[in-house]
Amino acid sequence: MVQNIDSILQENRLFPPTADFANSASINAAKLQALYQQAEEHHEGFWAELARSELAWKKPFNKTLNSDHAPHYRWFEDGKLNVSYNCIDRHLPDKADKTAIIFEGEQGDTRHISYAELHQETCRFANALKAQGIASGDRVVIYMPMVPEAIIAMQACARIGAIHSVVFGGFSAEALKDRIDDASAKLLITADGGHRGGKIVELKAAADKALESCGDSLQTVIVLKRTAHDVTMKAGRDIWWTDATQGLSDECEPVWVDAEHPLFLLYTSGSTGKPKGIVHSSAGYLLGTIVTMKWVFDHRADDIFWCTADVGWITGHSYVAYGPLAVGGTIMVYEGAPTVPDTGRFWQLCETHKVTVFYTAPTAIRALMKSGDEVPNRYDLSSIRLLGTVGEPINPEAWMWYHMVIGKTRCPIVDTWWQTETGANMIAPVPGVVATKPGSCTRALPGMALDVVDEEGNPITTPNKGGLLVVRKPWPSMLRGVWGDEARYIEAYWGMFNNRYYVAGDSARRDEDGYFWIMGRIDDVLNVSGHRLGTMEVESALVAHPAVVEAAVVGRPDEIKGEAILAYVVLKGARPEGGKDATLTQELRSWVGEQIGAIAKPSDIRYADNLPKTRSGKIMRRLLRTIASGEEITQDTSTLENETILLQLQGKE
Ligand code: PRX
Repeated sequence: MVQNIDSILQENRLFPPTADFANSASINAAKLQALYQQAEEHHEGFWAELARSELAWKKPFNKTLNSDHAPHYRWFEDGKLNVSYNCIDRHLPDKADKTAIIFEGEQGDTRHISYAELHQETCRFANALKAQGIASGDRVVIYMPMVPEAIIAMQACARIGAIHSVVFGGFSAEALKDRIDDASAKLLITADGGHRGGKIVELKAAADKALESCGDSLQTVIVLKRTAHDVTMKAGRDIWWTDATQGLSDECEPVWVDAEHPLFLLYTSGSTGKPKGIVHSSAGYLLGTIVTMKWVFDHRADDIFWCTADVGWITGHSYVAYGPLAVGGTIMVYEGAPTVPDTGRFWQLCETHKVTVFYTAPTAIRALMKSGDEVPNRYDLSSIRLLGTVGEPINPEAWMWYHMVIGKTRCPIVDTWWQTETGANMIAPVPGVVATKPGSCTRALPGMALDVVDEEGNPITTPNKGGLLVVRKPWPSMLRGVWGDEARYIEAYWGMFNNRYYVAGDSARRDEDGYFWIMGRIDDVLNVSGHRLGTMEVESALVAHPAVVEAAVVGRPDEIKGEAILAYVVLKGARPEGGKDATLTQELRSWVGEQIGAIAKPSDIRYADNLPKTRSGKIMRRLLRTIASGEEITQDTSTLENETILLQLQGKE
């Protein structure tokens, strides 16, 4: 499993914050030191104090952490609050007119929504959900384009205690159906369509298809008119957003929920074919997003904060829909592709809306870097003061480009390591204090007990020796479970070390300065453009095609995407000449797109008579990975049942 985790990357450049940034940052070295010390000395007390100072409680909590049923941890469990109240209402006394959301569509349409307006719209939509019979604890699926109403829908669910499950608009009807059924959702919020790359994303059509074969839990579909193209509305089931909210009050008393009340489910890939519904709590989750907005993003009242992630991913939950609003910030939201009308779009948006904090994925940076310096150089990026990255390790070349060309060497870069399961940033530099190194997410944040251990669970103290990334202590924004699958929660995250540590599924090393370097996944999970995809999910999709008998999927290093998907496929019929068949490959790629979504389409498919297997029938993926990356095979292949297949897979036959 974790043999040979040795580090190859050696990056020694160190970038301390500029004096300007350090002097104006809200966390200075002394403050950070004090936070670490408090957290170290009294983990629970540290978090309790933050929960009291950062959250508005309806009923204060007395019990900080309940570990009686570990690894099911409960934080602040006897307190009551409402997340939407914390994100909106509590800012109204002094920030009612402050802009909460700046929106720009791909076609250039813009909107500014103040906190007062966000409050009205959220309340009105919450009343609409109630009018459709939605109550606290009910599941609501959101399948929306990246428009303010997606955030309003999430906030409205939170307001009435409904548990939302946002499904990324790029996922297929099939994926949507699975998620609706797994959560037994009662209501779906979607749109007629969205805009992306000059085309309409057919959300309503996909929703209709999903609903054809869904179970009968789902009763109602609320449809936002965004593109205004023709869609079918099913009588008795579908209702337009405007009709659903017509005549309803713009006041809605929040439902005060227990701190542990689930705020949302978000499905993410794991080592099996079925995505897991990660469950997050209300209070603990929100606290994680708030403290990291302050520590990592150095939140200031006049910031224009732009996290480019879609609300369909955890980043779009924590750093678009919740965290920045909970601290009373102004967010930028863009619906569309970064390449429309050209690759300068992100920079134009930064210039037009005076973005101060810009947070994106390494894959986007690499793609934009490719179009050269002159594109960003056309824009005034002087409003930007802080840059962030998330989703995968950033290669030093892209880091340097981000630093020089976008940040003009002035802006710190916060490389933030975290996961859907962790709810908020866990390892990241505090930008006014911690010197950064290109490619490292630096240090764990206060109160986040990360470590690198060996396969026996012993902490690795030798610098640069790789091991497993684990969390030694519970933290408030941690996942609370896998929806409807207790066994999987234990097995996937806690089983390896008998509930002692949370196992992140990443390998990592720490260097001489104690900085963390993430080295990759230890399971069969790919990271394609910063998005997690299970190899098994793609394989299940492939073998569901009538022409396919067997499939194995591996990642291959890719300049832009980080990892590209390569599939080895055994067909029912004969192997095509030379192991390639462009027409069938096209068909299979579209097929996978329909089963999961466009991001899961293999970049390439190779056809083989057979796959390399051990005598017990297990596919040797490590071997396939080696072949996929074009490296020489150094592994022992003597246990292979069909050693000769290697030549064919390598294209030597
Ligand atoms: O492998 C790590 C990688 O992304 C995984 C989490 O994926 P997901 O739950 O989809 O969330 C992505 C956004 C938070 C991790 O297990 N990852 C995330 N951030 C980084 C990273 N790898 C290296 N450096 C990062 N900053």
